[in-house]
Amino acid sequence: MTISDAELIERAADAASRAYSPYSRFRVGAAIVTDGGEIVTGANIENAAFGATVCAETNAITTAAASGVRRIATVGVVCLDGDPCTPCGNCRQVMREFGVTRVVMRGRNGDILVMSLDALLPASFGPEALAAEAPES
Ligand code: THU
Repeated sequence: MTISDAELIERAADAASRAYSPYSRFRVGAAIVTDGGEIVTGANIENAAFGATVCAETNAITTAAASGVRRIATVGVVCLDGDPCTPCGNCRQVMREFGVTRVVMRGRNGDILVMSLDALLPASFGPEALAAEAPES
């Protein structure tokens, strides 16, 4: 089954409604599609020790990875408190690890903005620089 960008954005917005962001009051949700067509979602989860905060995109990606997913095609991102927002640098690198090619964001009027990860993270460093079999293992 093909997941549309609109459906991905809807799932990301739903995830954002469950963000735990008492410090920034900035709610972010992410929804990813695995290469098997499965959707996994995540929200930002903050921490009183700010550095322990987990972003929505990284939450979704690492949740999927922990259940065995190794290739992710597309990531959808919604910020409920300031559309549009693009993923932070750390999340872009996490996306790079699992082969993400497209990032879909919800714009100000509900319009959908699509960017390639290549455009968001040019000349990037990735797993192939270290080990031939990563990230399969
Ligand atoms: N945040 C995300 O969840 N994803 C991003 O790509 C940017 C920032 C979260 C982290 C923190 O909880 C809040 O947004 C403000 O930075």
